[in-house]
Amino acid sequence: MPDYAWSPANLEATTEVARELADLLPSRGVVQLTGNLGAGKTTLVAALVEALGVAPSTDVSSPTFTLIHEYGEPVRIYHIDLYRLDEPSQFYTLGLEDIFEANALVLIEWGEKFARFLPPDRIIISITYGEGDQRHITATGARLLSRTEP
Ligand SMILES: Nc1ncnc2c1ncn2[C@@H]1O[C@H](COP(=O)(O)OP(=O)(O)OP(=O)(O)O)[C@@H](O)[C@H]1O
Ligand SMILES: [Mg+2]
Repeated sequence: MPDYAWSPANLEATTEVARELADLLPSRGVVQLTGNLGAGKTTLVAALVEALGVAPSTDVSSPTFTLIHEYGEPVRIYHIDLYRLDEPSQFYTLGLEDIFEANALVLIEWGEKFARFLPPDRIIISITYGEGDQRHITATGARLLSRTEP
């Protein structure tokens, strides 16, 4: 069972979900974003980075070629995309184990490819398609914070 669920009707509504999600995420921990190609993982990361008040040095985009982007202040954020990673050995070359131990929020796309190397206590955010621009988003994990009433 997901701990939280939303069904934003369009991109704007997804940005709103990101604001709510930002309040539920710890400042340190690993978050796996699952969802098909184009479901909106990178889009959600960009909205989360903004909602967390972090000013990225560059636009938040898919770290497809660099694999890892790092943003800072007031929360250190790593944005990682494992889509193009094939070998577990590359996983270690990239220093991901160290990143998982860092005092940072680590957001990972395509982590399911290497699920066995991810921390068991990670938070999972899932994005699936609805009709048109609608998406279904769930967030699960013991490390999620509780929702504070407005
Ligand atoms: N409700 C919505 N929420 C998020 N994105 C939406 C929504 N409606 C439409 N979109 C569009 O869907 C696309 C999602 O692309 P995005 O790159 O974020 O997906 P992704 O899951 O990161 O894909 P990939 O697996 O290739 O990394 C964007 O073009 C975005 O504008
Ligand atoms: Mg992406």
